[in-house]
Amino acid sequence: RENLKIRPQSFSDYIGQKKIIENLKIFVEAAKKRGDSLDHCLIYGPPGLGKTTLAHIIANELGVSIKATSGPTIEKPGDLAAVLTNLSEGDVLFIDEIHRLHSSVEEILYPAMEDYKLDIIIGQGPAARTIKIDLPKFTLIGATTRAGLLTSPLRDRFGMIFRLEFYDEEDLKKIVLRGAKVLDVTIDAEAASIIASRCRGTPRIAHRILRRIRDFAEIMNNGIISKEIAEFGLNRLEIDSKGLDVNDRRFLLAIIDKYNGGPVGIDTLSATLSEEKDTLEDVIEPYLIYKGFIKKTPRGRVVTQLAYEHLNIPFKGYQMTIE
Ligand code: ADE
Repeated sequence: RENLKIRPQSFSDYIGQKKIIENLKIFVEAAKKRGDSLDHCLIYGPPGLGKTTLAHIIANELGVSIKATSGPTIEKPGDLAAVLTNLSEGDVLFIDEIHRLHSSVEEILYPAMEDYKLDIIIGQGPAARTIKIDLPKFTLIGATTRAGLLTSPLRDRFGMIFRLEFYDEEDLKKIVLRGAKVLDVTIDAEAASIIASRCRGTPRIAHRILRRIRDFAEIMNNGIISKEIAEFGLNRLEIDSKGLDVNDRRFLLAIIDKYNGGPVGIDTLSATLSEEKDTLEDVIEPYLIYKGFIKKTPRGRVVTQLAYEHLNIPFKGYQMTIE
């Protein structure tokens, strides 16, 4: 799959998140020098910023295998036991959406993380016994959208916690140019800048846009991604000059039209938009907050003057509304 190549494979391939990468290089090198496993890592941040990619790079750089699973996939303690007993010494276990682990599973993860021991209860009632199984030393890499979603006992057992941030346009431009090389498509520097400025600070979205613009370029411009074809494609995809898509605008307009710009609670918005609260909080809001288009207040979300100006709607200040 193209996707496998489009993902960076090593620290040296990775663009952006500089502070995290610089620190990780040291931690990985130190673990290798000691001949020890790397401490458990928690990576959090909005979707598409490279949490899974980073986990694979860490395993690669450590020179170990990675086994990947996710919180919702591990339904019972036995499922986790099966995964843990399948690891080799030093391996990485990657658990995506780790905040969605069942509490019964989380409990057996604690001794596994701390002492590399598995406590399993067999049987029931007076005949029940616990047996301890020694596990190989392993590195757990957990990923989640918000660190606050984890229980504190789980969060406390990670030796390092990294928060991925939205990428700036300079880094995104490099990511787009690198992606174009992997896809073997010709792109103007200006076109790369335009995609970089309209991808919501998110490499996954930059790559998605690049693929769609390549389609327009192949059918309409001999396969060359020029500034004009990039702009044409982005308009056809309904991605505006600040990179906001249909969902972002729908979110802002709901607050403006139905709640006079807010404040409005997230549960009310969720009902108004018929969208999961988690989707709003994890996918839509972070970028709008980062860009200063909405603010979270104790009484709910408000749309800022900046957003009104961007949407070309007169701003008349905030009024009281009854939710
Ligand atoms: N593709 C996705 N994220 C990337 C990154 N941070 N660096 C390089 N390529 C990427």
